[in-house]
Amino acid sequence: MRPSVMVVFTLLSCTCAETPAVQVILTNKCLQYVKHVGAGLIQDKLKQITFPDISGKVDIIIGNVYYTLTGTTVTKCDFPEPAVEFSQEYSGLKTSVEGLSVALAGNWETRFGIIHDSGSFEMAIYSINLTSAVQLGRDPNGQLSVSSVGCGALVGDVDVWFHGGASAVFRPLVKHFKGRIIDLIESKICPEVQDVIIGLESYLQAMNVSTNVNEVLSVDLPLTDLPNVDASNLKMGLKGEFYSIKTHKEPPFVAQPFTLPGQTNYMLSVGMSEFTLNSAAYGYFSAGQLQALINDSMIPPECPIHLNTSAMGMFIPQLPKMFPNLLMLLQVYATESPMFSLQPGVAELGLQLSLKAYAIEPNGTQTPLFKLNLVSQFSGKMWIADEKLKGSVTMDNFTLTLVSSEVGPFKTDALENALKMGIKVVALPKLNKLLAGGINLPRLRCGQLVNLVLNIEKGFLDISSDLEVQQTGRSANL
Ligand SMILES: *[C@@H]1O[C@H](CO)[C@@H](O)[C@H](O)[C@H]1NC(C)=O
Ligand SMILES: *[C@@H]1O[C@H](CO)[C@@H](O)[C@H](O)[C@H]1NC(C)=O
Ligand SMILES: *[C@@H]1O[C@H](CO)[C@@H](O)[C@H](O)[C@H]1NC(C)=O
Ligand SMILES: *[C@@H]1O[C@H](CO)[C@@H](O)[C@H](O)[C@H]1NC(C)=O
Ligand SMILES: *[C@@H]1O[C@H](CO)[C@@H](O)[C@H](O)[C@H]1NC(C)=O
Ligand SMILES: *[C@@H]1O[C@H](CO)[C@@H](O)[C@H](O)[C@H]1NC(C)=O
Repeated sequence: MRPSVMVVFTLLSCTCAETPAVQVILTNKCLQYVKHVGAGLIQDKLKQITFPDISGKVDIIIGNVYYTLTGTTVTKCDFPEPAVEFSQEYSGLKTSVEGLSVALAGNWETRFGIIHDSGSFEMAIYSINLTSAVQLGRDPNGQLSVSSVGCGALVGDVDVWFHGGASAVFRPLVKHFKGRIIDLIESKICPEVQDVIIGLESYLQAMNVSTNVNEVLSVDLPLTDLPNVDASNLKMGLKGEFYSIKTHKEPPFVAQPFTLPGQTNYMLSVGMSEFTLNSAAYGYFSAGQLQALINDSMIPPECPIHLNTSAMGMFIPQLPKMFPNLLMLLQVYATESPMFSLQPGVAELGLQLSLKAYAIEPNGTQTPLFKLNLVSQFSGKMWIADEKLKGSVTMDNFTLTLVSSEVGPFKTDALENALKMGIKVVALPKLNKLLAGGINLPRLRCGQLVNLVLNIEKGFLDISSDLEVQQTGRSANL
């Protein structure tokens, strides 16, 4: 292949195939649950439908009868549970309902020349069979899109009863026009279905593929590719990248592909790669959030060592001689973005920090004393219990090196050991106590994730869960 052709191919493959850092699999169990909840909602909604007035005319050879149907409402609705399945053929969903029956009631008015007449009516529409196919796609913004790709409606039978006025006259007409009434109803159903799908599509379009998580971070979740539908599930790949709202800087690392196995006995599986976690850490880092000033009033009173030059004489003998009895200030900041590395069963976190120490002169001037580099590695386990995220963290490694000193050289071993002890004996037990108590999982807007399981795999977190939709005035638990 000529080099220029290869360049073109490389560019093409870079622009089209973005690696999804978050993968979502919705299983058939999820589809059936959502359908069950949805069917209940539709049944409730159908009963509340109000119909617009319908006007028309019927040619009865000797002239036209103009009619208007007003105040039509649904009096009874028999909505059998629909069948919904994933469809590889349509790259979406296929829905069918068989034997839907609806009873309506309302008022009628007719005008034939100067003759006005009115009364009430009842209508029964029997055995409606409805099929609808919806295609799932990806719009240019990366938002999930839905479009109707097939609809069919068949009405088994219709009957109409008129009361009041000269209704006896209409009875034979109903028989005569039954075919046309059925055609009319059939022709109205699919456009209605289409409208519902268009409504759903505009709802999806209004949602943002990028949202702010807090004051510092935003997250981008557009689809990286078309949704992948087969007979048993729907798979979606999402960008899954956090950014600093302030800098919106791309991190110096990229997402690595991974394979989410998916669990058919759960409604959904979510795979979140270590890239997603690292992009969040990078967002904080590039926004300058990973830094802190530590002064003596932040050191717990029970701590034997305080942040002053006399106490530090234990580690740096010349310090109290050069700067007697001064309070100190520490400036701690990350020199590199913290990096997570996920291994089967374990999450590792590497931290690289710098620490600058200052003495606070009586007139308030901060005199620099020394600068240290800290490299440490932590590893942790994570699991979900009692619907909470729990975990435990241990420190694997901690090294301290002296970068520069305004007070002359000193050995860092004693200081390193003291800090290590401080972390192991004070900081980590506090953190682990917090993690053992568990962190509440985020709640969804309309429901809750239940039966959650979390596994740490090589390069990604594998989360499987069921869904429980909460509806007001309606229990929809499976
Ligand atoms: C609806 O479907 C059922 C079952 O397949 C069938 O028996 C019935 O004839 C269908 N009704 C119409 C109006 O096509
Ligand atoms: C989407 O983002 C725009 C601007 O960022 C905001 O005005 C709008 O409310 C957001 N829409 C939703 C549904 O969050
Ligand atoms: C330490 O810092 C905190 C917060 O920045 C501040 O409120 C406090 O006054 C400081 N204490 C001393 C002794 O400087
Ligand atoms: C320095 O800290 C020690 C305890 O570590 C304390 O006894 C002493 O009073 C402190 N000195 C000053 C000036 O704060
Ligand atoms: C503050 O005090 C230090 C040491 O006593 C001195 O070197 C420095 O010049 C003083 N700074 C100011 C602004 O007075
Ligand atoms: C700890 O860090 C030192 C220096 O970076 C390295 O030589 C050592 O292998 C590390 N130990 C572990 C257990 O990672």
